[in-house]
Amino acid sequence: MKALLLSKYKHLDVADLPAPIAGPGEVLVRVAACGICGSDVHGYDGSSGRRIPPIVMGHEAAGIVAAVGEGVTGYRAGDRVTFDSTVYCGECEFCRRGEVNLCDRRQVVGVSCGDYRRAGAFAEYVTVPERILYRLPDGLSFSDAAMLEAVSVAIHAVRVADIQGGETALVIGAGMIGLLILQAAKASGCARVFVTDVDATRLEMARALGADAVIDSSRESLTAAIHQLTAGRGVDVALEAVGRPETVVAAIDCTRKGGTVALVGNISPEVTIPLQKVVTRQIRLQGSCASAGEYPQAMQWMAEGKIKVAPLITAVAPLEEGPSWFARLYAREPNLMKVVLDPRSGHGAGGSQEVAPA
Ligand SMILES: NC(=O)c1ccc[n+]([C@@H]2O[C@H](COP(=O)([O-])OP(=O)(O)OC[C@H]3O[C@@H](n4cnc5c(N)ncnc54)[C@H](O)[C@@H]3O)[C@@H](O)[C@H]2O)c1
Ligand SMILES: [Zn+2]
Ligand SMILES: [Zn+2]
Repeated sequence: MKALLLSKYKHLDVADLPAPIAGPGEVLVRVAACGICGSDVHGYDGSSGRRIPPIVMGHEAAGIVAAVGEGVTGYRAGDRVTFDSTVYCGECEFCRRGEVNLCDRRQVVGVSCGDYRRAGAFAEYVTVPERILYRLPDGLSFSDAAMLEAVSVAIHAVRVADIQGGETALVIGAGMIGLLILQAAKASGCARVFVTDVDATRLEMARALGADAVIDSSRESLTAAIHQLTAGRGVDVALEAVGRPETVVAAIDCTRKGGTVALVGNISPEVTIPLQKVVTRQIRLQGSCASAGEYPQAMQWMAEGKIKVAPLITAVAPLEEGPSWFARLYAREPNLMKVVLDPRSGHGAGGSQEVAPA
């Protein structure tokens, strides 16, 4: 089969590899779409240590069941599916509680990190355990379905932030994740959602996707703007989707007494926090990792139009264009958001389709 192989750091080949075979409890999926994740781009040069070559990356995928292994009962060839990026064991203490993102034996599709190596979906075929599969609704395209992982991350953040409805929220960062958190917060019933970034183009997208106010913190004081928007009180919930020291501090500064800061961004491994403010204002700091069963909710809100992903997809391109798209993403070319690769032969041939002006 055709696969995009990271044969050494910063080097991808379109290689011919043996197709995998579905073992007991596994399903062979013919991949129709797989999104390039920020974590793939960080893995590509070796900086994260999570994509040790040789590895076929790719964990944001959708496709069609090609074959099922022994003991698989819930799916058969021809089913349209997606799967969780997390391969969880289903048996440990955390899995039994439904916290599959915290599984003791957690693996991620398309990752090799020393402890394990698991082939991903930048390939014509991939095998995954049946328990991580989800059936796709008919109306959901494969390229939109490749966004389900990111949408689930956003919904998980809103869920662990304990948003009940009626809150005022601030989303810090209008990137892929922040723009989805904005929509998930709105879908969850937040009364007002503000979004901040340092990039005016991203803030325009936030406004178009329903932000009640946007604040360009490269031009104006974020804390002063939030002070004004909340009559001096601060927001009930701040959702941090950048992951830098200054944005984590800003999240704390903008949150009301007794409010919640949900920490999703993780660019900096360490940040310094204003301890006195957190303690005396009794602010809850809540980490959020991946997702734990939010895929069905993500599909429902996408079907209902409450979460729109099309504006976030920059291009759908054939697998052969993978090396050049990785290079462009790695070079941080401005205004690139999600790039989805389609490994099916003949699909997307003749060049990529730029689907959003981004
Ligand atoms: N916790 C999880 O499960 C999880 C999952 C996916 C991504 N992430 C993390 O979420 C973060 C966002 O991911 P993404 O894919 O949206 O990235 P992205 O690059 O698409 O977006 C980041 C945004 O932050 C903005 N930004 C940068 N510096 C800023 C500043 N000082 N103030 C305000 N905005 C600023 C950028 O302009 C950009 O719009 C990353 O740290 C990523 O690692 C976490
Ligand atoms: Zn991802
Ligand atoms: Zn487990």
